[in-house]
Amino acid sequence: MNTTTHRHSGTRRRVRQALPTLTILGATLLTGCQQTNQSLSIGDMASAYNREIFWMSIWAIALSIIIFIGVSYALFYTVQKFREDKHDAPPAQFHGNNKLETILVAVPVVIVILLSVLTVKSMAVLNPTPNQATKVDVLAKQFWWNFAYPETTSDAGGVVTNGNELIMPTKEAVALTITSGDVIHGFWAPNIGGQRAAMPSVKKTWQVDTDRAGAYQGNCSQLCGASHANMRYKVIALDKTRYDATLAAMKAYRAPEPAPGSAEARGYTLFMQGKASTGAVSCAGCHRVQGTPAAGAAGPDLSFFGTRRTLGAGMWEAMSAAQWIDEKAAAELHAWIKHSQKVKPGSLMPPYDGTPYMKGGKLIKTGDQGANGTLTDAEIDDIAAYLRSLKLPEEADYWKGTPVQGAPNGGTQ
Ligand code: CUA
Repeated sequence: MNTTTHRHSGTRRRVRQALPTLTILGATLLTGCQQTNQSLSIGDMASAYNREIFWMSIWAIALSIIIFIGVSYALFYTVQKFREDKHDAPPAQFHGNNKLETILVAVPVVIVILLSVLTVKSMAVLNPTPNQATKVDVLAKQFWWNFAYPETTSDAGGVVTNGNELIMPTKEAVALTITSGDVIHGFWAPNIGGQRAAMPSVKKTWQVDTDRAGAYQGNCSQLCGASHANMRYKVIALDKTRYDATLAAMKAYRAPEPAPGSAEARGYTLFMQGKASTGAVSCAGCHRVQGTPAAGAAGPDLSFFGTRRTLGAGMWEAMSAAQWIDEKAAAELHAWIKHSQKVKPGSLMPPYDGTPYMKGGKLIKTGDQGANGTLTDAEIDDIAAYLRSLKLPEEADYWKGTPVQGAPNGGTQ
């Protein structure tokens, strides 16, 4: 991998200097209609994947320019030389001229071969996944992501998994094995590589990488339903030692046990058992929390929810450490638990406010089969308090000090 990573470093500085312009142009085109705090970059040269594609494109464009000049020259030369006012007689005909026809076939064939060689060469560099690559299983569902680390089984049991925030090491290949739990989605975090479809019943492995530590934006790139535009995620690239330490902390992690009588403890009970008196279903049926009996797989993994800084699969980014206590973040989480469909169309999480919601294309009202029981606002806040307590140890907070690439304030957190 290192040979690829550093193949072009130190050279071609002028082209690299033009890249910020390309990046800004790309970001403007791609994020123009989205409300996001972080821009995407299609020309991020910190990724060996992107560098390979970039140089392939440069050669292809150079070849196209040569062809354009050649064709234009031939056209203008012919028009000029055989102008009607210079020649009274009809022009000579070339029908049956084998030599000319051979040239007209051979030249395009050579051009196509040259372009194919460029493509095949890049495929040969990008397609094989090195054995030592960090492996991550990516599961896309309407409308969220799970990132599982198949080589890291937690001490509490189960594969270490994070919802909607992908942690990866820098300066090495990361092999993503991508699939979908329902319809076709698209994994697209252009800073670390290209785009891949996530298809149900199909597992495709592909490698991405970056040399630069940072938090990057990822979006779903296939129209997949009502909240396609709200199906986002973050990629957090950490330098190797920090990545290893973070994964080790995730492996050792067990959800903290709430103090008896605390809001977290009440939230824990509701999370695990729901509320029998109203028929409110438990959260544990659909969500997993490492180190607890909660092992649901229908919704995103919540094991490290308190460390995450995005909510609703990247819909809200207000939950930075300093802002966690912010009223806005608390209000967003409250609204989310209370009735997620009101804030994110198409969300499959049942509401707890007793108002109608959509399930399987049907409107479910109070009294209907499948209607969900209610929780009080105080109970919802208890669940929120429990979720916020699901935190990795301070030193494993992967957001802390990680530069957020493409943020308007350019800021670190
Ligand atoms: Cu998932 Cu669009």
